[in-house]
Amino acid sequence: MNFSKNLKNLGTETAFTVSAEAAAWSDLGNKIYPFHLGDMNLQTPKTIRQATTKYMNQGKNGYCASEGLINLRKELAFDVGTKRNVKYNYKNIIIQPGGKPTIWKFIASIINKGDEVLYPNPGYPIYESQIRYQGGVPVPYGYIETKDGFAIDIEQLKSAITPKTKALVYNNYQNPTGASSSKEEMLFISNLCIENNLWVLSDDAYFEIRYTNDLPLSIVNVPGMKERTVILYTFSKRFAMTGWRIGASIGPENIMEKIAKFNINDESCTNHFIQCALAESLGNIGEEADDILSKLKSRRDLCLDILNSIGGVSVAKPESTFYLFVNVDKLMMKKNFDDIEKFRIESLRRTGVSFCTRNHFGSSEDEKLSNYIRLAYSGISKNEIREGLSLFKDWIEN
Ligand SMILES: Cc1ncc(COP(=O)(O)O)c(C=O)c1O
Repeated sequence: MNFSKNLKNLGTETAFTVSAEAAAWSDLGNKIYPFHLGDMNLQTPKTIRQATTKYMNQGKNGYCASEGLINLRKELAFDVGTKRNVKYNYKNIIIQPGGKPTIWKFIASIINKGDEVLYPNPGYPIYESQIRYQGGVPVPYGYIETKDGFAIDIEQLKSAITPKTKALVYNNYQNPTGASSSKEEMLFISNLCIENNLWVLSDDAYFEIRYTNDLPLSIVNVPGMKERTVILYTFSKRFAMTGWRIGASIGPENIMEKIAKFNINDESCTNHFIQCALAESLGNIGEEADDILSKLKSRRDLCLDILNSIGGVSVAKPESTFYLFVNVDKLMMKKNFDDIEKFRIESLRRTGVSFCTRNHFGSSEDEKLSNYIRLAYSGISKNEIREGLSLFKDWIEN
């Protein structure tokens, strides 16, 4: 018996392999400092947990509408619209089991074989996987490191557009670089999309993981963009709900109808009692969510203090996400490594500090950013950050 030939086009998230390796090393009795996965070791707000138990006990355990509960869709339309200063109604919202499903459903709704889709590289690996698997042509665009962090290589992005380009994936507040677009960058990208009549997938997974009081920038707020953009929304990061699996696709009604049809074909509906709980809680969990944010912020600052005290390391302070993307060129040179993968494994063995590298975020044909590691501080306590990064520093310096 044979499997589908098309499976060769399906990619994966190799960060999970790093996780498995770290777990195997830990099973042998070694101490691990987990900086590899963007998972969280913080509790979901109590308000959500209590409401969920209540609705589970009230019998909200059957199927519900495949588009999601109208109450939750209304709450989310208000919340997401207010935070982006645009108007959405419940028909613009289709509830999903997480943020990830929006990626394949968006691509399946818009592309035909051979259509090109621009996507960030380094970036979340599922974009490339889904574009290729569904018969599209993934076309990467990169980032440039500046003294303030990372910026999209807009010259490269511009030159990557062809008559076959159908869509652009845009992940402002970006994984893995922590990049935030300036207003100019966002306007430039918007104009490019309007001039070339492109669809846009705006991956907003980290839209609310921001550590400044500045108003967030959203591409749907730029005139002409809301009608061509689908937002990937997720509860996973803002409310420490990665394992609950709930999010939404948000966009123009015409494409939401297509996405809703995929829901019927795929999962029928998203968890009923969790939707009831979120519809009830969404308006009053701001404080608990801010508490999560302030814990993440103090972890970020601690990581930066220790990392920037290592000779040869200089990391700018990202104002969003819970990732640090660190150039380790000088560290590799000091320790005589010419291969980032070997450097990663040796760090795990010598210090227990486990992280992903640039190679886990798309193929690194663009050598500018090849020797980078990504440290996620969402799943590790401050004590462990202090201990782990101090061991890492000692290993590098001695
Ligand atoms: C950029 C980005 N988009 C989407 C997702 C998927 O989110 P979810 O776990 O809610 O499916 C992640 C998860 O890490 C992510 O980093």
